[in-house]
Amino acid sequence: MRSSLIRSATTSLTRGNFAKISSSDLSFFERTVGSSYVKTKDIDNYTCDWTKQMKGSSKCVLIPSSTEETSTILKYCAEKRIAVVVQAGNTGLVGGATPLFDEIILSTSRINNNFHLEESSGVLTLDAGIILADADYLLAEKGFMMPLDLGAKGSCQIGGCIAAGAGGIRLLRYGSLHSHLLGCTLVDGKGTIIKLGGSLRKDNTSLHTAHLTIGSEGQLGVITSVTMGVVPRPISILCAMLAVSSYSHCLRLLSLARSKLGEILSSFELIDGETMKCVERHLPIKNIFNEPHDFYLLIETHGSNGDHDGEKLNEFVEEALGAELAEDGVAAHSENERTHMWRLREESPIAAAKDGYIYKFDVSLPLEHFYRLTEETRKKLGTRARVYCYGHLGDGNSHLNVTTDGEDEELKKELSPFVYNWVVSHGGSISAEHGIGQLKRDYRSLGKSEEEISLIRSLKGVFDPHRILCPYKMIPSQE
Ligand code: MLT
Ligand code: ZN
Repeated sequence: MRSSLIRSATTSLTRGNFAKISSSDLSFFERTVGSSYVKTKDIDNYTCDWTKQMKGSSKCVLIPSSTEETSTILKYCAEKRIAVVVQAGNTGLVGGATPLFDEIILSTSRINNNFHLEESSGVLTLDAGIILADADYLLAEKGFMMPLDLGAKGSCQIGGCIAAGAGGIRLLRYGSLHSHLLGCTLVDGKGTIIKLGGSLRKDNTSLHTAHLTIGSEGQLGVITSVTMGVVPRPISILCAMLAVSSYSHCLRLLSLARSKLGEILSSFELIDGETMKCVERHLPIKNIFNEPHDFYLLIETHGSNGDHDGEKLNEFVEEALGAELAEDGVAAHSENERTHMWRLREESPIAAAKDGYIYKFDVSLPLEHFYRLTEETRKKLGTRARVYCYGHLGDGNSHLNVTTDGEDEELKKELSPFVYNWVVSHGGSISAEHGIGQLKRDYRSLGKSEEEISLIRSLKGVFDPHRILCPYKMIPSQE
């Protein structure tokens, strides 16, 4: 049976039955990771999330440098029943890595030494604390590329990307993390080091256990090493932006792009007119087009022959203009122009965050409903709030952002149930790529069957029987 729709989120949280940290615990941690890596002061950067809206507290941050140190810590915490929250780059948008009460923060940022690329197969094994952009930089020297890319690439860590189930701007071309992850090392909630999967492109000998870690949000363990397939770096990367007058034309342009650009189509991103105005209002970036439009599409191609790809992209843009599906269109003629186009899209969240108090949504919807959610939200809120939409249209992933001048408790109570009920009743998912964390914990069962919830709880019990890992978040506890 599927859980029914919800009226409002009213759950109030109480601290779980976990041990409080004592000075002998701190001494043990200092002996394990070294006293410089047990931080008890000036830890606001760890106890607060990127959006600065979720602020928790913690007695200490532990920064182990290896799988073995992580295992020693978790064995100890399991025995003492000390709650732990796992934190990678702290770039998440749902507060999954932020403590609530007094959980220990276990940071993976020092587990970042090993990086090995097997060039003939394109299989990369790297430590989980390595930053995505650094991994990509190292791969570039060998002609390879990380298949995933996202705005937070300069800070997010690869283990965090797996645990968050990150999607990003190239999923359309290269597929989700499920297409790339081959294996990983996980330290479970008992401190046991488990190698999940392996390094072969094909291995059908058992359950694909490594894939359980994708989107697991630290519930099953700490990922300390990742083995994944990487892709050849494209020789030609081209970019164009279209200005469009209606959402239905955006959809027709997506179909046209799929047929005209075929295998080289890598990104198909949408920015709505209100978001573009918001970017121009808050950031020193100008719209590419002189006139304002209702929608903007950012299209990128990845291929191996610049002339051939350029011809295809030009043909696509010409047909889009000729058929009057686009009002205007510009192709990037230099790396600077391409960067300019991407900044408009990648800095949309930053502009929205500067616009006031922000209510963020990350939802998947069937394409016919993708923009209707934004329209319905605007209709519902009227002048009470500003509503922005940008996102990965090619993946059906909308980032709806609502802002108000100050925090509005009434609106907060109404908005999430409205959005999430609307999404589920239109065949969507309440989290496309940002996860559940603490932001969506009250809605985590929405659209899930009782049988699936029960299976998820049982799996949690296998990996983390003492339930010390990331409590109060994605997986409902037994009580
Ligand atoms: C994005 O696509 O820009 C990211 O998922 C961040 C966001 O939605 O705020
Ligand atoms: Zn996104």
